Amino acid sequence: MKITVIGTGYVGLVSGACFADVGNDVLCLDVDPAKIKILEDGGIPIYEPGLQEMVKRNVAAGRLHFTTDVEKAAHFGTVQFIAVGTPPDEDGSADMKYVIAAARNIGKYMTDYKVVVDKSTVPVGTADRVKAAIADELAKRGVNTPFSVVSNPEFLKEGAAIDDFMRPDRIVVGCDDEQAALNMRALYAPIQRNHDRLIVMDIRSAELTKYAANAMLATRISFMNELANLAEKLGADIENVRKGIGSDPRIGYDFLYAGAGYGGSCFPKDVQALIKTAQTDAGINLKVLNAVEEANDAQKRVLGRKVLQRFGADLKGKHFALWGLAFKANTDDMRKATSRDVIQDLLDAGATVTAYDPVAMKEAQHCFPNEARLSYADNQTAALEGADALIIVTEWREFRSPDFDTIKAKLKQPVIFDGRNLYDPKMIRSMGIEYQAIGR
Ligand code: UDX
Repeated sequence: MKITVIGTGYVGLVSGACFADVGNDVLCLDVDPAKIKILEDGGIPIYEPGLQEMVKRNVAAGRLHFTTDVEKAAHFGTVQFIAVGTPPDEDGSADMKYVIAAARNIGKYMTDYKVVVDKSTVPVGTADRVKAAIADELAKRGVNTPFSVVSNPEFLKEGAAIDDFMRPDRIVVGCDDEQAALNMRALYAPIQRNHDRLIVMDIRSAELTKYAANAMLATRISFMNELANLAEKLGADIENVRKGIGSDPRIGYDFLYAGAGYGGSCFPKDVQALIKTAQTDAGINLKVLNAVEEANDAQKRVLGRKVLQRFGADLKGKHFALWGLAFKANTDDMRKATSRDVIQDLLDAGATVTAYDPVAMKEAQHCFPNEARLSYADNQTAALEGADALIIVTEWREFRSPDFDTIKAKLKQPVIFDGRNLYDPKMIRSMGIEYQAIGR
């Protein structure tokens, strides 16, 4: 099948590469010539395990192409995926201008039937706006070319995006005509596992499904974080509580890890956008989600607060080692990363910080430009040099089993603040290390 993917960001690039990998002919469009240049030269503008090889392989096979030519892209694919950014507006609602601009471009140039698919996370009702924008452009040209609009939200996780795409739990397709449904079935046929994963529904339900999924997961995390703070005060261990409740299949084990708060490009943005949509489009105040957001904002400050409680409100002359900058492991993404709040809290109190992250240090430098009191180490051991304590913010695998003797030897005082509960408190305390985790 011929497919155009508009937007070579995270979702667009992964989708384009994966569709090419199963044999489709894919053209990816981006307005940013710098991005297209990187891709044409065999690089990728983001970090995602396995993606670079997949892009290379499919470019070499002649199935994956890149362009900045809007007209060419509109002609190319029978299926046109819109996977452009929907950054939050100042008030938290998702900004639809790039989605609508992409739709207008399709309408401006298309000459035969197109299935236009919203892949970006978009508020309920966006498909109607996309439809109207395309129809408006066709009317300006005085033509009546047929097209369908489909909502097909993406559920991929950074760091596991290729696997999520190729082995999905479900593929949600919202559409209101048979021809579009047939096209989507054909497109996803090679990506089904042992049984049909495609769930076809009306467009608005599909649009809401994406927000509901992320909001539910964020809710679980905030709930566990609040219980962790309670467990700490009551002398319980949230990890034991997690195992105790996760064994109930109605609850399940996944996404119950207490920590230093959730970040990333999805949960914070989608929770906010859903709250906003509910308010403005339906006059409904989503009380639970407001609390989820409030709890998470507070949770991102917990590590900083613990450090201040331990070392005093004035951290001038104190130096801290920080392991992990990315909002989670296996990504270089710094968007809404908890490390940013932790570092800011430490800097505000006068401290100096040396950070280490396996891949996100370059991204982090953009977040704290010209910050003289923040430096970066070449490896996790080097970060410890001369530090008063170690603070762990991201659950990278290589932090899970470090040499504790080295940590003890390098730190001025053997104190670890662990925002991801990586270690067994008993074991680590028996080694004479002061261990402050979350909810234990
Ligand atoms: C998420 C959804 O999982 C994915 O389905 C959707 O398409 C996009 O948003 P992502 O943002 O890549 O994916 O990361 P995810 O692995 O879900 O983690 C989000 C945040 O929650 C991270 O900061 C992580 O550290 C935190 N988290 C996750 C917890 O604090 N506890 C948990 O139990 C799980």
